[in-house]
Amino acid sequence: MTNIRSIAIPPLTADLERVLIDADTIQRRVIEMANQINHDYAGITEPLVLVGILKGSFIFLADLCRKLTVPHVVDFIAVSSYGKGSTSTGNVRLVMDTRENLEKHHVLIVEDILDTGYTLDYLVRNLKARGTRSVNTAVLLEKPDRHKVEVHLQYVGFTIPDVWVVGYGLDYGEQYRTLPYIAEMKIPG
Ligand code: PRP
Repeated sequence: MTNIRSIAIPPLTADLERVLIDADTIQRRVIEMANQINHDYAGITEPLVLVGILKGSFIFLADLCRKLTVPHVVDFIAVSSYGKGSTSTGNVRLVMDTRENLEKHHVLIVEDILDTGYTLDYLVRNLKARGTRSVNTAVLLEKPDRHKVEVHLQYVGFTIPDVWVVGYGLDYGEQYRTLPYIAEMKIPG
């Protein structure tokens, strides 16, 4: 039988500059964030609705929700803003809605990265307008140098410099999402 502790961490490929945040560090921080969420939502009488923003949040959400002890349910939403480029256009569009009706629910939006802030700014306003009881945000990574709009973040994993990052849900042309660490991409040129 395979010893799960012996599963190899995939090595950096030629396209990747360096590991920015290793897998153990991510896991430790996710537990800390979950502990804080458990503390803050202790005593809620109905499940907290975790809304993951597809696709980038799926691994962070999967790890985070399995460390939660407060009652919760999982849902997803998808928006489009980058098109085929690498910079947000600011023109955010809902392309897939949640399955749950969020009215009167406590909602926690779960996001992999806050870059310009356009995506979260749009979604916080959109979900608040639905008569939700509360809307908070849990973001694994944020790049302060890139913010174009200010979004209040309740839970932040790591603040990172303005470099292109992949892994742990984040992609470059749909590649690298399943790396267990966050790596910095080499910028071609
Ligand atoms: C990325 C990321 C965030 C958003 C953040 O999504 O996952 O959702 O951009 O950028 P912003 O703060 O500038 O709005 P992307 O559009 O690349 O889709 P993906 O999650 O499917 O990779």
